[in-house]
Amino acid sequence: MLRVCMIGTGYVGLVSGSCLADFGNAVQCVDINEDTIATLNDGGIPIYEPGLKDMVARNVRSGRLAFSTNVGDAVKASDVVFIAVGTPAQEDGATNLTYVFDVAETIAEFLNGYKVVVQKSTVPVGTTREVARRIKAKVSADTEFDVVSNPEFLREGSAVEDFLRPNRVVIGVESDRAEQIMKQVYRPLYLLETPVVLTTLETAELTKHASNAFLATKISFINEIAAICELVGANVDDVAKGMGLDGRIGPKFLHAGVGFGGSCLPKDISSLNHLATSRGYVPHIVRAILELNNGLPDRAVDKLTIELGSIEGKTIGLLGLAFKPNTDDLREAPAIRIVKRLLEEKAAAVRVFDPVAMENFKITGLDVVYCKNAYDVADGCDGLMLVTEWNEFRQLDLPRLKKVMNEAVFVDCRNVYKPDRLEAYGFRYQSFGRGVAET
Ligand SMILES: NC(=O)c1ccc[n+]([C@@H]2O[C@H](COP(=O)([O-])OP(=O)(O)OC[C@H]3O[C@@H](n4cnc5c(N)ncnc54)[C@H](O)[C@@H]3O)[C@@H](O)[C@H]2O)c1
Repeated sequence: MLRVCMIGTGYVGLVSGSCLADFGNAVQCVDINEDTIATLNDGGIPIYEPGLKDMVARNVRSGRLAFSTNVGDAVKASDVVFIAVGTPAQEDGATNLTYVFDVAETIAEFLNGYKVVVQKSTVPVGTTREVARRIKAKVSADTEFDVVSNPEFLREGSAVEDFLRPNRVVIGVESDRAEQIMKQVYRPLYLLETPVVLTTLETAELTKHASNAFLATKISFINEIAAICELVGANVDDVAKGMGLDGRIGPKFLHAGVGFGGSCLPKDISSLNHLATSRGYVPHIVRAILELNNGLPDRAVDKLTIELGSIEGKTIGLLGLAFKPNTDDLREAPAIRIVKRLLEEKAAAVRVFDPVAMENFKITGLDVVYCKNAYDVADGCDGLMLVTEWNEFRQLDLPRLKKVMNEAVFVDCRNVYKPDRLEAYGFRYQSFGRGVAET
């Protein structure tokens, strides 16, 4: 049984740590955030992620999973040390690597024999080698260790399932010894014949950024087509369907709407842009994605303005705040920009509801009214915006909604509803890319 130390117990560290325990490893998840660890040691889960509570509880009961704030002791007691701390974007788009390098220093301080140090945080190319350099600079010449790049591809909302059944595992590794240990860490996935890409540190790091940039390209591409659809009277849903049936294109990530957010795509694409630019290359596609995506929340408010004439003095409701369904994560969520713009334009009130993200939204300090459900949001509203496509917003009781609204204006930022259905109920309806042909 391998002893694993997972440094950073956030979305990635907690899911990875508990799943690696489920694979049969003995895992210690550590974090400097005392509240996070206290919650976990009390049997709670600090984040919302389907299936995670059971996974954590089962592995704690089995004795294979434990939580602590003592990073040093956990490092000393392990064979493999994962770095899964945050790598947020700086103002200039570059990645803030402070947390990663702080952890590298801590690992160096407590390195007491051969260990594999695995970089799981998403980082710009060159970071894992720099982690190795920093550790080496602090330890004695005979201290043995290897570094590995093992980027994580899980998606919030289906993170446990993604970790247990990934499409692939990418491992940048440069020694046989570390490679064998990584194979042991992921042994159940090898048994399931999960494709494993063994490569260099740099290639593994870039594979992660390239994957996210490609996914963002697909989303942005269909959003561009949506804008063209509106101008020429075409329907983006059917265009996407017609495109997606081509096996070379595929249907996924071709949903037009208010664009992507979250803790990964925006910052990873900014990071790739920064990296390429700093090496003297202009990444045209990557830059275009950022520009297009950043403008979409404003486009959504513009659609509302088309129906209302002006936002000033109007009461607006938001259905959904999280950047996508099944998560409480609000990082780079379009809802934040939308609320800011509504307040800038002097909306009389902004009423909001999200099944799990309202507590996190309170941290923004934005002046909104927190509601109990979709119908409570709609009460007295002049316009409703469906921002996150939670399942409970897919089957709204439309007559009930209309009855409590002041004006029946509905901006569907995720193209959940069909225009003719909403219009049949008497709504003035706006969505993305559903142009109307001139006959
Ligand atoms: N969230 C995702 O869906 C996702 C998916 C794939 C990859 N990633 C990447 O994984 C990394 C982690 O992302 P996340 O969403 O889990 O971040 P997060 O902010 O949820 O968690 C990071 C954790 O690291 C802890 N931490 C910071 N410094 C520490 C230190 N010195 N010692 C111990 N703990 C420390 C923080 O307290 C926090 O709990 C990022 O690089 C991210 O880009 C995230």
